[in-house]
Amino acid sequence: MLSEKPRLTLQEKIKKTQEDINRELKILLPTEENDPSGLNLAKSIRYAILGSGKRIRAFLVLEVSRLFNVEEHSALRTACALELTHTFSLVHDDLPSMDNAHLRRGKPSVHVAFGEALAILAGDSMLTLSFEILAEVETYADPKVRADLVLTLAKAVGPNGMCAGQTIDLSTENIDLDIATIIRLQRLKTGCLLEASCLMGTILGHAPKEAKVALQGYAHDLGLAYQITDDLLDAEGSIDEIGKPVGTDVMLGKSNLVTLIGIEKAREHAKMLVNQAIAHLDYFDDNAHYLKELARHILSRRS
Ligand code: IPE
Ligand code: IPE
Ligand code: MG
Ligand code: MG
Ligand code: MG
Repeated sequence: MLSEKPRLTLQEKIKKTQEDINRELKILLPTEENDPSGLNLAKSIRYAILGSGKRIRAFLVLEVSRLFNVEEHSALRTACALELTHTFSLVHDDLPSMDNAHLRRGKPSVHVAFGEALAILAGDSMLTLSFEILAEVETYADPKVRADLVLTLAKAVGPNGMCAGQTIDLSTENIDLDIATIIRLQRLKTGCLLEASCLMGTILGHAPKEAKVALQGYAHDLGLAYQITDDLLDAEGSIDEIGKPVGTDVMLGKSNLVTLIGIEKAREHAKMLVNQAIAHLDYFDDNAHYLKELARHILSRRS
């Protein structure tokens, strides 16, 4: 059971999530010693995923799971699957044919360190491994729950989810988008996976319909706010803080809320979304303390 002792601060809680996820990932990841390629595939995967990711998607899975007393082992494995899928999306996002970014999580991007072909294959491997983990009986005894997890992740990341968002994002370089299109793009490329993180916690927890609806509302607003603050950090963050290049959105001619309405208005919009996200959690009273704290933290995050 995911039980709660004296209350940790949000920062302590995030740190604990990072440690728990890194420990579990080390159990789940392929090792260099047993890499059938005999080359650098396992090494590049471990390079990509072990390290300084904030593990926000894992945090969402774990916190939502805790609301419904989900077994810790099930929640942790599901959280790892989310982080593997997310990291795949980042490795491919950085490729020369996409955002052409040379730095990620404070280190050379995977294609810079290992070459473009291996970065593609490491990404493919992480995505595939996510589904393998979710489908394994160790994740949850009931095959119906496992199938639901697989389906939810597949929908979030596939052609009606993140891949659609990334396609729109890339196709509109140097074209000004309207607000409605930007919001749709943000929802698809970032929101879908954050929403899946919450939903997969509700699946593990056999959550009642009202709880699921409340968490979906939370995730929807949080997802939009999260991408706006990512775009704000691109505009005004520092490379040391965010561990990835800054100023790239303007350089690549991308349209986002910051480029369209400016820093101040975009920040106001993110604030409104965060308040809305928190209001959805009224249903859970104080049990959703950390989910509310996370939403507030997104507004002031520096990385
Ligand atoms: C970056 O995500 C890309 C977005 C979808 C905004 P994160 O900022 O959560 O990246 P990591 O996992 O902490 O590196
Ligand atoms: C990427 O958005 C969203 C993904 C689905 C990977 P960005 O391209 O803005 O993410 P960063 O800034 O490179 O992390
Ligand atoms: Mg991108
Ligand atoms: Mg990018
Ligand atoms: Mg960005």
